[in-house]
Amino acid sequence: MIPSLLAETSSPRTERARVLVVDDESMIREMLADFLELEGYSVTTASDGMAALDATGARPYDLVLTDMKMPRLGGIALLDRLREQAPTTMVVMMTGFGTVETAIDAMKRGAHDYVLKPFKLDEVSHVVERALAKRRVEAENIRLRQSVSLYKVSEALNLSLSLDQVLDTVVTTTLSELGADFVAVWFCGSEGDFFERHRGVGSAPDGSAALEGVVDANTLGAALAAGRPVLVHGEESRPYFTPAMRDAASSFVAVPLTVKGKMLGFIAAVASAPSTRFEEGQRKLLSIIASRAAASIENARLYGDLQATFQQTIEGLASAIDKMDRYTAGHSVRVAEYAMLLARRLGLTEAEIALARHSALMHDIGKIGCALNLNKPGKLTSDEYEVFKQHPAHGRDILSPIKFLNPLIPGVHLHHERFDGRGYPLGLEGRGIPIIARIITVADTYDAMTSDRSYRRALPHAVAVAEVERCSGTQFDPEIAASFLEGLDAFRDELLANGAQVPA
Ligand SMILES: [Fe+2]
Repeated sequence: MIPSLLAETSSPRTERARVLVVDDESMIREMLADFLELEGYSVTTASDGMAALDATGARPYDLVLTDMKMPRLGGIALLDRLREQAPTTMVVMMTGFGTVETAIDAMKRGAHDYVLKPFKLDEVSHVVERALAKRRVEAENIRLRQSVSLYKVSEALNLSLSLDQVLDTVVTTTLSELGADFVAVWFCGSEGDFFERHRGVGSAPDGSAALEGVVDANTLGAALAAGRPVLVHGEESRPYFTPAMRDAASSFVAVPLTVKGKMLGFIAAVASAPSTRFEEGQRKLLSIIASRAAASIENARLYGDLQATFQQTIEGLASAIDKMDRYTAGHSVRVAEYAMLLARRLGLTEAEIALARHSALMHDIGKIGCALNLNKPGKLTSDEYEVFKQHPAHGRDILSPIKFLNPLIPGVHLHHERFDGRGYPLGLEGRGIPIIARIITVADTYDAMTSDRSYRRALPHAVAVAEVERCSGTQFDPEIAASFLEGLDAFRDELLANGAQVPA
């Protein structure tokens, strides 16, 4: 667990360090208070452990200097309570010569140091200063660690446009930074309800399986939506858990995910070990993570929507192209599938595979610009063929003004180039032809051969394969043609297994 540094209001370096002197002997108490005030500390006194707890409950202290034997609540019991209530506060014990062992025991329980009574004042000053110096170093280290991990999480969030990746970063960071056993992100549903979108389970002492169905998301979401902070422990946390989990969880913190005043959902973290208790500082840390995360989640969602719009636009256009010619129904979709198969086999990146698919879907969009009756029976006349040969250039011209479709232009414009340089429209040669175009050429030709045309029936698969082989190195890039033929059988088996049709 990270101590609650963000909750601190005292900074020992810039303000006077706050010291609480606890002793039931008023003379010692007052003398120490006067002396430490003179040394530059801000000092408060308490007459026993109970009074000390009242004081530390009301405001944070940097150091508590406490006697061992006191009425109501002694030094050791006070130490135990302080370790829970204020783990970053330093505790120094004061004890008589006869109880050195007790002082050592106190050190084992988390006290920082001890002074033996009767003490010299400069000795007390030395021990107090040493304890506070150690605290400053610890605080600095933790601040540094927190800022480094916040920096890392911000960086990871900024880089990612994938919603799953963003949520994964958020959940993993929260698990480790808060020392939580369970962290999950919920999103607002369409009817004011909440649904769990992503979760992470840490090393819960009672096993991760016990953390299923943990949180009553609607009660929690309603509290957060109403602006109530949720940092609760034990009894207080019960309303936020599902009935099955009410006895298992001990500490609970949740913060909303808000973008431009609108709540997208929330992040909640649960600790099930009774010794783990989230502090206000951790709630603030989680709020910082949430504010970074909310913007990234919104971005990733917008990007996802944009991608979906892009897909729908392309698929809509592809089906419009195929509808222009009754002989080419489904042609663009099949060419896209072969193109993806090839792009994968050739080891292209995921982005390039997507580009191959989209370019293949659009490859014949230029037919829209050809004033031809593509449904007429028989072959095209030589004049008509000249018009038809314009379709790659028309494709380029159609896509040029549409910026988000520009990356598809090379595949669309150059899919009738030939490896030997005898294709059109530019007569490019070999690897001078963009790879996406070389891929589409193979995919397009194979599908054209294995489909019915106005002037002939579909050729059998075996004939088309022989033709691809024959034209390898002339019409086709030999490497791509070979890869296509190697991968085709397995691909056909896959299509058949999925109930699709394949060329006979
Ligand atoms: Fe074409």
